Amino acid sequence: MEWEWKYLVWSAIFLIPGLVFLLARKKSSSSYRLPPGPPGLPVIGNMLDLGAFPHQTIAEMKNKYGSVIWLRIGSVSTMAILSAKAAAELFKNHDVSFADRTVIDVMKVQGYYMGSLAFAPYGSYWRVLRRICTVELFVHKRINETVPVRRKCIDDMLLWIEKEANSMQRGTGVHVAHFVFLSTFNLLGNLFLSRDLVDPMSDKASKFFDAVTGVAQWFGTPNISDIFPGLRWLDLQGLRRKADRDVKTALEIVSKFVKERINKDRQERGTRKDFLDVLLEFEGNGKDEPAKLSEHEINIFVMEMFFAGTETSSSIVEWALTELLCNPTVMAKVKDEIYEVVGPNRRFEESDIDNLQYMQAVVKETLRLHPPAPLLGPRRAIQDTKFMEYDIPKDTQVFVNVWAIGRDPESWNDPLTFKPERFLGSNIDFKGQDFEFLPFGAGRRICVGLPLGNRMVHFILGSLLHAFDWELECNVTSQTVDMKERMGMVVSKSEPLKAIPRRIVA
Ligand code: HEM
Repeated sequence: MEWEWKYLVWSAIFLIPGLVFLLARKKSSSSYRLPPGPPGLPVIGNMLDLGAFPHQTIAEMKNKYGSVIWLRIGSVSTMAILSAKAAAELFKNHDVSFADRTVIDVMKVQGYYMGSLAFAPYGSYWRVLRRICTVELFVHKRINETVPVRRKCIDDMLLWIEKEANSMQRGTGVHVAHFVFLSTFNLLGNLFLSRDLVDPMSDKASKFFDAVTGVAQWFGTPNISDIFPGLRWLDLQGLRRKADRDVKTALEIVSKFVKERINKDRQERGTRKDFLDVLLEFEGNGKDEPAKLSEHEINIFVMEMFFAGTETSSSIVEWALTELLCNPTVMAKVKDEIYEVVGPNRRFEESDIDNLQYMQAVVKETLRLHPPAPLLGPRRAIQDTKFMEYDIPKDTQVFVNVWAIGRDPESWNDPLTFKPERFLGSNIDFKGQDFEFLPFGAGRRICVGLPLGNRMVHFILGSLLHAFDWELECNVTSQTVDMKERMGMVVSKSEPLKAIPRRIVA
């Protein structure tokens, strides 16, 4: 009997806490509510469900699972937002909780992510860089002061395109996005470093251009190391090695430019401050922010601006021109407007943009259907967060599918038709307040280059339409133009647009 009591007492001592623990766990996991989503396979989760174009396949899941979806991509827990209402809830009420970024493996090379603005954790360093951008670099005053820089780069682009067209066989088109890309590259080179960085007429490709375009390619390639962090050390696709090589080269080149500048005194530099001068002259309070930016941080910041600003802009211009060539009535309308406002006797100027309501609507309509970052820059939950009726754990990756939201019939009439008229007389804008239309994102991490990007895209598109009449190549019609997408850091046209320009304005 005594033995039985002893047995019972010892059992109680060991078993009861165990049972309490198990019951508590069961209760907490059943009260821990995740959004609905497709069931995943062991280990790989929903990887196979996503396919080659995740923004498109996730968009299709809305009918079955609703506008907030839970996915497991390998070992990465992911929440996808698919409606304007859910996006509004995220950006208005939970922006801070989701203000971190997912840092992918290739961004860890050469300390890249530690100096980056786009991938910096939400904190004091990010705040300082953001402030420099919004108060010093991308303010209207400085953007207005740099009009001549953009003028020169766009004049160069028009000449390159004309020269290329003249050298081609009749009926063959020019790869427009290539020249727009080079022109935005030089434009940023002049804003930041006061120099042209590429010359398409020279056989010698710029080393910096090659390195930066290489980095963008490695950063935009899906990587097994991110899906299964346990396999990182193997670098199975060799992406970390390639990114390391190209980031190193690009940083060495920027570093040379920066050193040259540091060694020049103010007088030699002239009176116009470029963006590099602003970065070098930055003085923080030295308490909750750095007193100066280090050379390494400046090099990374400058390099990052090239990834962030070039392909985004050239992709929008390429899609806009493609949509216009597929929709001749819209093309005629936008050309008429430009002809009326600018006329044939002078060049298209940046100051014309404000008077071109229809062209602005064409750009908006292009951004609605073809946002260059369809899932934005993936966010990451800083902490456990109660979002709508769900419990979202810390570190969850968040995709805001602005591609799906821009095509959602709940927000847009006739959503798949290219119809710029929908924006005429409407207040809907892309500045992050209208949640059905978020091509630049919203909230604290909205695109910091928006004012510059917006100007560049309108100026380039307007100049291309004013200087040339455009036609499709002789074997392509508006019905047969390839509209497929290509995934990368930016989603662009799979088959580059080749179009024939005919100079109409000298
Ligand atoms: C013109 C077309 C452009 C588009 C459509 C675009 C789009 C975007 C998007 C969607 C994001 C992520 C926003 C979010 O997560 O909520 C972003 C972030 C960013 N963009 Fe842009 N962008 C453009 C041009 C530029 C330019 C010209 C620059 C600078 C030269 C730039 C610099 C950045 C930076 C630094 C970030 C990261 C901001 C942060 O994380 O705080 N972008 N952009």
